[in-house]
Amino acid sequence: MNSNVLRQKYLDFFKDRGHAIVPSASLLPENDPSTLFTGYGMQPMVHYLLGEKHPEGVRIADSQKCFRAMDIDDVGDNRHTTFFEMLGNWSLGDYFKAEQVPWMYEFLTSELGLDPKRLYVSVYRGNEKYGIPKDDEAVKLWQEEFKKDGIEAKAVDMAEKKGMQGGRIFYYNEKENWWSRVGVHENMPEGEPGGPDSEMFWDFGEHLQLHENSPWKDEPCHPACDCGRFLEIGNNVFMQFQKTAKGFEELKGKNIDFGGGLERLAVAVADNPDVFLCDVFTELKNKIEEIAGKKYGEKDDETRAFRVIMDHLRASVFLICDGANPSNKDQGYFTRRLIRRAVRFAYVLGVESNFTSEVAKIVIKDYKENYSELVDNQERIIDEMNKEEDKFRKTLVQGEKEFNKWTMSKISANKIIPGEVAFKLFTTYGFPIEMTEEMAQEKNMEIDMKSFEIEMKKHQDLSRTASAGKFKGGLADSSEEVTRLHTTAHLMLEAMRRVLGDHVQQKGSNITAERLRFDFSHGEKITDEQKAEIERIVNEVIEKDMPVTFTEMSVDEAKAQGATGVFESKYGEKVKVYQVGEGDDIFSKEICGGPHVTHTGEIGGKFRIAKEKSSSAGVRRVKAIIE
Ligand code: ALA
Repeated sequence: MNSNVLRQKYLDFFKDRGHAIVPSASLLPENDPSTLFTGYGMQPMVHYLLGEKHPEGVRIADSQKCFRAMDIDDVGDNRHTTFFEMLGNWSLGDYFKAEQVPWMYEFLTSELGLDPKRLYVSVYRGNEKYGIPKDDEAVKLWQEEFKKDGIEAKAVDMAEKKGMQGGRIFYYNEKENWWSRVGVHENMPEGEPGGPDSEMFWDFGEHLQLHENSPWKDEPCHPACDCGRFLEIGNNVFMQFQKTAKGFEELKGKNIDFGGGLERLAVAVADNPDVFLCDVFTELKNKIEEIAGKKYGEKDDETRAFRVIMDHLRASVFLICDGANPSNKDQGYFTRRLIRRAVRFAYVLGVESNFTSEVAKIVIKDYKENYSELVDNQERIIDEMNKEEDKFRKTLVQGEKEFNKWTMSKISANKIIPGEVAFKLFTTYGFPIEMTEEMAQEKNMEIDMKSFEIEMKKHQDLSRTASAGKFKGGLADSSEEVTRLHTTAHLMLEAMRRVLGDHVQQKGSNITAERLRFDFSHGEKITDEQKAEIERIVNEVIEKDMPVTFTEMSVDEAKAQGATGVFESKYGEKVKVYQVGEGDDIFSKEICGGPHVTHTGEIGGKFRIAKEKSSSAGVRRVKAIIE
C-alpha cells in the first residue's frame, strides 16, 4: 500500500466518523515560544486540548508535518528520521476510550489489513504517587476487539520487564505509558496537559531479536524494548489531566490525542522494518543512486550515508519552505546543520560536487500534491539549498585538512581535541560544532568542550559589542527615556497576554525617546475596552513601583520557570530573565537582554496606547507613549 493511499484511508476513516479534516500547521510554531519546531501532531492543538473552542468542532483529524531536532544524530539506522508526517485524530472533550480503541483496531486490521496476531498493545499500570489508577478499562476494550478475531489477549504486568510471558497486552509504568510533551516528572511545567496512553506495536518477528549479532539476543524481549523486533505504530493518549502545583488535576473535558507515524504504519503494512524502503523514499533513493553510481543496501557505511542524505535533505526542503533558511541561529541553524551533514556524508558515496538541489527537486515533486506550499516556495528552496551548499563546499576541504592536521598531531595524542580547534573550524570553516564532534567520534576522540565554550563566549561578547552600535536590540540608544519605554514594552506585552490571550507574542519593536512601536501576533483589531484594560494594568504596575531584577540562567531553567520570550537553543548559553515584582507578587518574567529601569515607578508617567493598526497578516502594531 502506497503511503498516499494510506494517508487518505486514515483521513477518510475519521471523516466518516464525524471528524473535520484540517491542513497541517507549519513546522515553525507560531505562538509557542516554548519550542522551536512542531514535533508532535498535537502541538497546534494544545489550546484546544486545554479547553478553547476549535472552530471546526470537537472531532478533528489531520496529517501533520513534524521535525525532531533531537533525532539528528540517530539518523542512519533503519527507523529514525528527523522529519515525518504524523497522522492524528482528536476528541476535544467528546468521545473517549470506548470509541477510540475499537476504531483503532478496525483501522489497523480491516482498513490496513494488518494481521491481529502480530499486533500488541501497551497500557498504563497506574501509580498511587500520582493518584492515577491502572487502566483496566482500556485492557477490557482491547480484549473485546481481539476476541472478535478469536484471540485471547492476555494482559501481563511489566513492572519487572520479564519478557513476553505469553502476553498480548502489557502494563508498563509512566516511563512508557504516560504521555505529555515533557514526559512526567516532579518539575514538569504547570499547565502541561497529558495522560495515560495506550500504544500499538507491530511484530516484525522474533528472528530480529535472536539474530546472532544482536546485542539483545540474550535479553528478555517485549514490545517496548529496543531490539528491533517491535515497532510502535501509534499512540492513543487519554489526555484527561493537567499538571498543577499540587499534582495532577482532571481537565474539564476528556480528550483523545492519537498520533501515528505515516511511514511506520506503511512499513508495518509492507512487513519490512526499514523505513527508508517506504515508497516516500523511492524516487529520492533512485536519484541518489544515479548521482553516486552506488546502490542502497549493499554496504553498511554507504547505506547509512544514503539514509542521512535522504532524511536530512527532505527535512531541509520542508524547513526552508516554512521559513527556516539556513543561518547561524534559531531554526535556521538546524537547516544549516542538516544540509552540511548531508554534504559531508555524500563523500562516503563519492559525491564531491553540488547535488543537493537535484535531490530537493525530487522531494518537491514527491510531496507537492499534499503540500502545495512546496510549489509556491520552490524557487526559494532550490536557491537556498544551492547557496548553502556552495558556501560550505568552499571551506569543507580546507576545514577537513585543518581537522586532520590536529587529529594527527602530538597534542591530540591523549584523544582530546582542543576547543580552540573546534572553534576555528566553526568560525573559519563553518563546521557546526555537532559535526566536528561527530568527526572526532569517528576517530575515537573527544573535543574539549569547556575550552570551546570559553572561546564561543568571548566571540559572542565581541560580536554583541560590534552589533550593539548597529541595532541596539531594537532600541535607538540607551538613554533614560528609551530604557523607561523598554520596560514599559515588557509590561504592555504581559498585559496584552492577560487581556487578549497567551497567543500574543512580540514580533518586533522599535523604541525612541518619544515613543514605543511594538508589533505583536494577534488576528484582529483590539477593541476600545481591551485597550483600556491593557492601559489600566500597565498603569497599575507603574504605580505599585515594583522592583525589576534579572537572573542569569540556562534556557531550560527559564522555560521551567515559565518565562516568555524567544527561546534560542544554543548549547550551554545562559540567558537573562527579567522579572517584574518579587515574592508572591510577580507580574512577569521574560527573557531579554535589557536595559531596564530598576523600579517600575521610574517610568514616571501615565501609559497610553496612541495608535493601533494592522502590520501584516496576523500581526498588529501599536504606538504607545508615556505622558
Ligand atoms: N501526542 C502523542 C504522540 O506524539 C500522540 O505520541
